Amino acid sequence: MSSQTVLLLPGDGIGPEVMAQARRVAEILVPDIKFETGLVGGASFDMHGTPMADETLEKARHVDAVLLGAVGGPKWNNVARDKRPEAGLLAIRKGLDVFANLRPAYCFPALVDASSLKREIIEGLDLMIVRELTGDVYFGEPRGIDVDDEGYRRGYDTALYTHPEIERVTRVAFDIARERKGQVCSVEKSNVMESGLFWRQEVTLAHAEFGAGIELTHMYADACAMELVRAPKQFDVILAGNLFGDILSDEASMLTGSIGMLPSASLGSPGTPGLYEPVHGSAPDIAGQGIANPCAMILSLEMALRWSLDREKAADALFAAVGKALENGARTKDLGGDLSTEGMADAIIAAL
Ligand code: NAD
Ligand code: IPM
Ligand code: MN
Repeated sequence: MSSQTVLLLPGDGIGPEVMAQARRVAEILVPDIKFETGLVGGASFDMHGTPMADETLEKARHVDAVLLGAVGGPKWNNVARDKRPEAGLLAIRKGLDVFANLRPAYCFPALVDASSLKREIIEGLDLMIVRELTGDVYFGEPRGIDVDDEGYRRGYDTALYTHPEIERVTRVAFDIARERKGQVCSVEKSNVMESGLFWRQEVTLAHAEFGAGIELTHMYADACAMELVRAPKQFDVILAGNLFGDILSDEASMLTGSIGMLPSASLGSPGTPGLYEPVHGSAPDIAGQGIANPCAMILSLEMALRWSLDREKAADALFAAVGKALENGARTKDLGGDLSTEGMADAIIAAL
């Protein structure tokens, strides 16, 4: 375990601000881990003319885990789509084949009253969204903006899922549920979409094949969006495709108090590096002010320690320290407090 390496890709906006604090925490908590750094997103575009350079991707393939801050910002709004910061994020997800994106929505006891929902609806909330990350409209072909046969301009994408794509992410959702309450709610729009109907059929087949002990239910994505704010504690694991998983995880983040609290882990095949990033973006509206909440980034480090680096004890200690700091009243602005990004990390380090 002595020579583990983690690649840090801070990215844009608040990405470097929250990454600096995650690194500080890591250097105290797991001082033997080596760090390399690289560029992604707009930062990479500015330097290399591409949001994800081949050499960076190659480097990412050969480390134990990758931590990514966030990408994007108004500066690159007019850049061609395939060169936009977001394309760099999609390229590294696809390039590492990290098909299972775990987005836990856990409400720390100290934050129950920071949520926009009532205490009794939120208290004890602990759900996991398993979002498929390398398929769906994000990558489906054909896509484009062009002119149809009648001369009308049009824009289109393709929602597409194959059997292996659904099977492998369903397996991950079942494995995770087995360590939890054993319940998986699969989400799609099988009432209107062929890819949604296929998703439901495939998940049902997978359940019959390797879903022993799992209680599987299905829900339309729109109903799930509603249920998430009506009674979120009914969920244990939510399994969703790329697009619905994206939307539902932003929604779930607000249950926990702030999008600045939500980490994620993106996993591929065993033995390949995982990619760890906050659910939030580069937050251009607060970038440069030093007020971003670093918890989502620090908790993404916690997930890396747990899921890629085999450091369960360090992960437990870090998770407990975040909880303790919050109990002690540490709050950034998004949580109703006035601590800076660095001040929040100080509070977590003090609790370690
Ligand atoms: P965003 O998540 O960046 O910001 C949404 C709101 O949440 C903003 O008001 C922001 O200030 C706030 N916020 C986000 N993170 C916060 C934090 N850690 N602490 C305190 N407040 C926080 O989403 P957006 O504004 O829709 O997108 C901005 C840019 O980020 C876009 O270019 C978008 O494509 C990109 N983006 C990137 C990622 C990623 O890198 N994984 C994810 C989402 C969006
Ligand atoms: C996320 C983001 C990304 C996504 C964008 C920035 C490409 O919203 O990580 O949730 O849609 O997956
Ligand atoms: Mn998103």
